[in-house]
Amino acid sequence: MVKFTLNGEPWELDVPSANPLLWVLRESLELTGTKFGCGIGQCGACMVLVNGQPTRSCQMPISAVQGAEVMTIEGLSRHGTHPVQQAWVEEQVPQCGYCQSGQIVSAVALLAAKPNPTDEDIDGAMSGNVCRCGTYTAIRRAIHRAADLQAEAIATDGAGAGGDR
Ligand code: FES
Ligand code: FES
Repeated sequence: MVKFTLNGEPWELDVPSANPLLWVLRESLELTGTKFGCGIGQCGACMVLVNGQPTRSCQMPISAVQGAEVMTIEGLSRHGTHPVQQAWVEEQVPQCGYCQSGQIVSAVALLAAKPNPTDEDIDGAMSGNVCRCGTYTAIRRAIHRAADLQAEAIATDGAGAGGDR
């Protein structure tokens, strides 16, 4: 039995301990926003946050999240109002869209650690997320925009800029 917190809710699951977190999310919990790309830890399509750290869920056995806080793309906001999601829409980042959940999750982690990242910070933090459509320039633009939106939200309400979670 594995117990963890997923998108703010406590969960207890009876699944084989070696099952990758990605399969548990997609197959057992039907949270399909997190994508299967390569399955070998190379593409970042399966990125989720585990205790705030960007983590490739295809490489993490479910037993390793015992007691952890996991956040998926579905947990960012109910209506797409998280600053990173808003910036992604404003900058029209996605092409086919397949890699974008992972890209957004990595961007959220970056902005939590560095609220005003440089281009170099962005390139470094996002290097584990591959986009076959080549949206890298738009992603960089959107992260700068999200940083502005996040700063505006904090200045306005003094709270964290986590959207309408
Ligand atoms: S599917 Fe996990 S890194 Fe590619
Ligand atoms: S938008 Fe198509 S793979 Fe990134």
